[in-house]
Amino acid sequence: MNMSMRTKELLESYINQQIEQIKNKVGDNNKVLLALSGGVDSSVCAALLAKAIPEQVICIFVDHGLMRLNEGDEIEAVFSKKDLKFIRVNAQERFLTKLADVTDPERKRKIIGEEFIHIFEEESKKLGEITFLAQGTICSDIVESGKAGSANIKSHHNVGGLPENLGFTALVEPLAQLYKDEVRAIGLILGLPEALVNRQPFPGPGLAVRVMGVLTREKLNILRQADFIVCQELDMLPENKRPNQYFAIITDTLSVGVKNGTRTYDYVIAVRAVDTQNYMTCSYTHIPHIILEKMSNRITSEIPQVSRVVYDISSKPPSTIEWQ
Ligand code: XMP
Repeated sequence: MNMSMRTKELLESYINQQIEQIKNKVGDNNKVLLALSGGVDSSVCAALLAKAIPEQVICIFVDHGLMRLNEGDEIEAVFSKKDLKFIRVNAQERFLTKLADVTDPERKRKIIGEEFIHIFEEESKKLGEITFLAQGTICSDIVESGKAGSANIKSHHNVGGLPENLGFTALVEPLAQLYKDEVRAIGLILGLPEALVNRQPFPGPGLAVRVMGVLTREKLNILRQADFIVCQELDMLPENKRPNQYFAIITDTLSVGVKNGTRTYDYVIAVRAVDTQNYMTCSYTHIPHIILEKMSNRITSEIPQVSRVVYDISSKPPSTIEWQ
């Protein structure tokens, strides 16, 4: 990301101003709790709080086990080095148990949201009295929060989106005046790794909405490997040729194949890559066939349980970006 000197100066002065405001609001003795999802907004919020009130900020990262390959560990590696108290709650089993047998996408989202809140409540109770809840709310969240009167196509539950009755006295939202590109720039100034700051959007319910049908450990593992290959191949493109969002989906369809002269009956993986300005509409990316072919060859040869790869050529509308 190229930042002009003027932009950098303005953002640095925004950071300093916010540091003062956070200090004044929180005072010397109160504590602030932040639900860290590892997404851009909550990560930048954590970095800003760490700068302002390092001794008083506690981040809870609930690992629901629905992250991409190595993602939970990467988040832990970044934040356990920062000047803040970082708590990782490994709740993979709890989420998987709750989601067993659930196929309906909206039920999946609801269960994940509710379980997240239960865990967050349990963990925050263990910490004793905490006055402030910090949130990485940004300007567009406020603009889009239902006030535009648009139809609710999917319940956009953000893990980290917490109810109002958690017992905190006040909110700290230091990014509320910023748009996404400014949040990213501030993240870089605060020393967050570029890969984290320039992350593609990732749904709060994680890979759960990319596993069609019942969520099993096996399907999650296959999806993680396929997604890793898709990302590896497309990350290599120059920034101006890269789609805005790309990922794999594991379908609930088995198909016949042949490997080493033997008939197989294995999973179909779908690849999604889209070009979009605002994620409200998108067109599918015209990925060169040579890259599609390489992804397909790698996925079917490196993952034994996959027999076939398909590319999603739908735009939004009428399709959505995610499959669920
Ligand atoms: P759709 O699928 O609605 O996605 O076209 C638009 C953008 O939103 C992301 N997305 C979500 N983000 N919770 C989130 O935090 C969700 O439940 C969710 N569903 C979709 C999606 O990845 C895309 O960037």
